[in-house]
Amino acid sequence: MSSVAAFYGDNAALYDRIATLPPVGRWRARAVAALDLDPGDTVVEMGCGTGANLPYLRTAVGPSGRVVGVDLTGPLLERARDRIAREGWTNVHAVRGDATVPPVAAADGLLATFVVGLLADPAAAVGDWCDVVAATGGGRLALVDATASSHPTGRLLNPAFRAFVAAGAPSSSPGDVVRALAPGSDLDAPLRERVGASRRALAARATDRRYETMGVGFVGVLSGTV
Ligand SMILES: C[S@@+](CC[C@H](N)C(=O)[O-])C[C@H]1O[C@@H](n2cnc3c(N)ncnc32)[C@H](O)[C@@H]1O
Repeated sequence: MSSVAAFYGDNAALYDRIATLPPVGRWRARAVAALDLDPGDTVVEMGCGTGANLPYLRTAVGPSGRVVGVDLTGPLLERARDRIAREGWTNVHAVRGDATVPPVAAADGLLATFVVGLLADPAAAVGDWCDVVAATGGGRLALVDATASSHPTGRLLNPAFRAFVAAGAPSSSPGDVVRALAPGSDLDAPLRERVGASRRALAARATDRRYETMGVGFVGVLSGTV
């Protein structure tokens, strides 16, 4: 089992509580809106975790569409499957797979929220995801990620953000969380670089690009048509 799967598997219940907080739900709704999905579309979510985006995606494509969530962490997928079963959705699927080897060949839309920072080569993954969307003749892809804020209020909270990033990193130690709070800490640099690489990869392939920030500048949604 990878360190990512072990980390998220061990923390599935806590992760689900954070992932479904109402303000986070509002970010999810806006990200799904950026996909411009139509009823009947097929949409794929890479790294779907506990399925917190699935209700928004299911609403967007309706009963005649199809939603496929992909994740490599078993305990998170179980929660996503419980959610699907509870709702009685027959057109929503949570499948175990590696987002860097897309198990779906074609989709009208593709979403990845808070995932690219965990990938060794996010630009390559985004290139493959663009191919999935391009295979239908064109659709939209949206990437949602958190990075340090440049918003006047958000900047005050950047040390807390860095500590949160350190606490949520599969490879971090308690000492990293303390160091992240120190002035001038750059412990979020790997996350920033991966998110930057993923956004550049999408921007290079997409037209009709839209970027918006939420959560006092911590959360960015980049979407585009491929
Ligand atoms: C921070 S969580 C985000 C989950 C979900 N997208 C959300 O917004 O709540 C990151 C997720 O990415 C998944 N993940 C990381 N690397 C992956 C990969 N290579 N393939 C599939 N899933 C992956 C993890 O298992 C975890 O569920």
